[in-house]
This record gives sequence, C-alpha cells and structure tokens, in this order.
Amino acid sequence: MSPSASSFLTSAPADLARAAELLRQGACVALPTETVYGLAADATNPAALAQVFAIKGRPLLDPLIVHVLEQAALAEVAEPDPRLALLAPLWPGPLTVVLRRKSVVPDLVTAGKDTVAVRIPAHPLFREVLRLAGRPLAAPSANPFGYVSPTKAAHVRDSLGERCPWIVDGGACAHGVESTILDLSVPGRARLLRPGPIPLEKLRELLGEIEVVTRAANQQAAQDAPGMLERHYSPATRVVLFPNGTLPVIANLRSAVLFLGRRAHAPANADVFLLSEDGSTEEAARNLFDLLRQLDARGYETIHAELAPPAGIGAAYNDRLTRAAAR
Ligand code: TXA
Ligand code: MG
Repeated sequence: MSPSASSFLTSAPADLARAAELLRQGACVALPTETVYGLAADATNPAALAQVFAIKGRPLLDPLIVHVLEQAALAEVAEPDPRLALLAPLWPGPLTVVLRRKSVVPDLVTAGKDTVAVRIPAHPLFREVLRLAGRPLAAPSANPFGYVSPTKAAHVRDSLGERCPWIVDGGACAHGVESTILDLSVPGRARLLRPGPIPLEKLRELLGEIEVVTRAANQQAAQDAPGMLERHYSPATRVVLFPNGTLPVIANLRSAVLFLGRRAHAPANADVFLLSEDGSTEEAARNLFDLLRQLDARGYETIHAELAPPAGIGAAYNDRLTRAAAR
C-alpha cells in the first residue's frame, strides 16, 4: 500500500483522513507543524515507533516528543503538574514540556526514562490529523539524525526520500526552528533544555526562575538526550559564525555569506545571501534551515553565517547555528 517514492498528501479533507488512517494502521507520516515538519507515528504503537527510529537513523536512546490535541489529554501520558496551568496561554504552540511519564507510554517513546516530553501543536493540519487519528502522535523532526530539520515538504522528500512514503504538504513552517523544551519533571525546578520560538523571557514571566541548561552541560548529559548533542543540525558544508553587525573574514574562493539583513557593504569575494530583507530575526529563523539546505547542495567550501541579537527567537537561531558550526 505504500508508494515506491514519497507521495504528497494535501490539506484536502480526504487526504487528511487518509493520513490519519495510515497512522492508525501503524504507518509513519510526515506532517507540518508550526515549527518544523515532524515524522509522526502512533505513540501507542511500538512497531510504528520503531519505524520512526529506523527511518531517521536515530539512536534508540533519544526519546521522542508526544503530541496531543489539548491540555486535558496530557494527563493520559504524563503526571499532572500545577505549573501547567500557568503555561496555558502558550498552548497550542511551539512549547514542549518534559513531565513524569505514565506507565502506558511505550519505552521507545521515552528511551526508558521516567519522563516524557509533550507538546500541543498549533498547526491546523497537524491538529486535524491528530483529531481524526484519535490518539497521541509521537513525532521527531523529519530529517536524518543529526542533519538540518525540514521546514518545507520538499525538504522531507529530499533527505528521507522513499524511506518516508507519505508527506502532508502544509507549505513552509511559520517559525522554522524546533519548539522550546522546558523540563518540569522535578517538582519546584524548571529547566530550559532547548531554546525555541517561545523565548526564555516569556517563560520567566509566567513561571518565575528557570535554569538554563548550557550546551556544555548538555554534552555531558548527551546520554540522556542525544538530540541535544553539540554537533547537530549540521549541514555537510563547514559553517563559520561571525558576530551580529560585523563583516566576516573570507579566506576561501568558494564561500557563501549569510547576512541577517540588507547591508551597505558586502564582501566582494563571496556569494551573499539574505536571511531577511529588513533584518527581522523571526524571518531569519524561518528561512535559516531552508537556506542552509540550499547552500549545502551548492558545493561551497565555507558558509559564513551572521549571529543574531540574542533576544526573543534570536537565542534559538543562535543555538541552531552554533550547533551547525560545531565540528
Ligand atoms: O518543534 C519540535 O519540537 C519538533 C516538532 C515535530 O514537534 N520536534 C522535534 O523533535 O524537534 P526532535 O525529536 O527532533 O527533538 C526533540 C528533542 C530531542 O533532543 C530529545 O532528546 C528531547 O527532545 N527529548 C524528548 N523527550 C525527552 C525527555 N523525556 N527528556 C529530555 N529530553 C527529551
Ligand atoms: Mg530533531
């Protein structure tokens, strides 16, 4: 029943019903979210979950995010936490919360840990498929393990190919970087595990003090969550960063420069690309993975990329670029 190459499904009701039926039967389907495309599977079906790991080439030690339709459904997979009520204004949206798991959650989802990551996505197509499937959906980003996340349906086809036969095409993702991950699994303690579209500033307004888990600490904890490895989101081409508002030093003949916005002066010995016309960090984040993928296919020796001011989504943008640059 699966096609020999990837087939695109559309937002038409019959296609979304098909996607939900495929998921109920244990197939994997790539779905758009407001952050990046996810490779979804029935979170209650271990055989379907095993396929997700196989398709991505992902180590079984790296746990998956479970997506549900509403806050009430969180209780089916995770222990309730009084702080969740404070986060209600952010849901549905690009926020993932790590909570203590319920035992019904398959070990493959949690990598055998006693916690589970949960998220209530806002994308209307993902939500409609969730509603029709009638069960929680586990979904990591729909890219080969370690590579740049997909923000368009074509990215999924290009990097997973026929390993991912079904892709729902919802156009380009609104945020372009993965969800913010907040760990609430220890009572009285809140930790930011991954910066994302919901900025730390916003979480502190709602919750008070939040610890930030540094990249170095994540390296140490890599056995807990290999998805937090320093070298992640990496194109094959070498990426070199330069500070916001400065000019890069170009040493190679085949160099590309990624600027955050339009510049009066640009290096003459490199090809110049803009992540945003007017220097908007939101727009730059939305375009980052798409441009990295395009440039990766063009045989540059080095991609020089401009860091963003660290406010708002800038922290997530800088985090992903820093990981892309890590060797
Ligand atoms: O925006 C997103 O979050 C996308 C969309 C599809 O929802 N998903 C996504 O999933 O980025 P993934 O698997 O690529 O990244 C999830 C990260 C991984 O680094 C994983 O290690 C971590 O979340 N994670 C999952 N469960 C966890 C847990 N119980 N404790 C700590 N980290 C966890
Ligand atoms: Mg990922």
